[in-house]
Amino acid sequence: MSAAEIEPGQAVHRGDPVTVDRYTVGARINHWITATCLVLLALSGLAVFHPSLFFLSHLFGGGQATRAIHPWIGVVLFFSFAGLFLRFWRLNLWRGADTTWMIRLREVLGNRDDQDPDLVEIGKYNAGQKVVFWGMSVLIIVLISSGLVIWDQYFSDYTTLEQKRLAILIHSLAAIVIICVWIVHVYAAIWVRGTIGAMTRGRVTGGWAWRHHRKWLRDLVTGKPVEPAE
Ligand code: HEM
Repeated sequence: MSAAEIEPGQAVHRGDPVTVDRYTVGARINHWITATCLVLLALSGLAVFHPSLFFLSHLFGGGQATRAIHPWIGVVLFFSFAGLFLRFWRLNLWRGADTTWMIRLREVLGNRDDQDPDLVEIGKYNAGQKVVFWGMSVLIIVLISSGLVIWDQYFSDYTTLEQKRLAILIHSLAAIVIICVWIVHVYAAIWVRGTIGAMTRGRVTGGWAWRHHRKWLRDLVTGKPVEPAE
């Protein structure tokens, strides 16, 4: 039984596992296309970034093929992430409670947050997830715009050498930062046990929702609209 199906006040039969729907099939497909693109972009980008990593170009059929395919994967990632952005930006809007959560991050990381209403009444996303979301959003815009400046196959006539040099520097720095943000995202998804199932099966356990996103669960069960207006 999914929590969304439970009527307010309805008794749940003992032994029924409570699961809560978290992502639609569309959102999951959208997410995994984006994730695949980022991994391929990191591998192909690193292959052309430094000679010691050139061996990675074998994955894409050699140096020339890697150079040709990298920007196109970037275009797919841009549009795919735009889909995620449109789905989730409202739920990632910053609230007063998020600042408190961030200030007290040490308690959260030390698992000492479960008794404190300021730290457990969390909506669909906590402040850490929101920082990752907005970080990815800004970095992807920086990457696509600096990437277009250095996409010589199509745009070499429209930019100067100085602009290209600056764009390469910005593109490389943004790529390094987004790989770090991605590592934080994946680490958090694995560290908070039960989270991966949200993006694979589309649902989480009632216990997970109660422990990590209690306000979201309350709103679902009581039939309140899930955020954003709070
Ligand atoms: C490849 C490894 C990845 C794994 C294992 C992974 C895992 C997950 C999981 C488990 C969730 C659900 C979290 C929750 O509902 O609390 C999630 C959400 C999300 N992921 Fe990923 N992810 C990966 C890569 C990416 C990449 C590369 C991006 C974007 C560039 C991305 C963007 C998102 C977004 C936007 C959400 C929704 C959460 C939010 O809006 O804050 N993920 N991911």
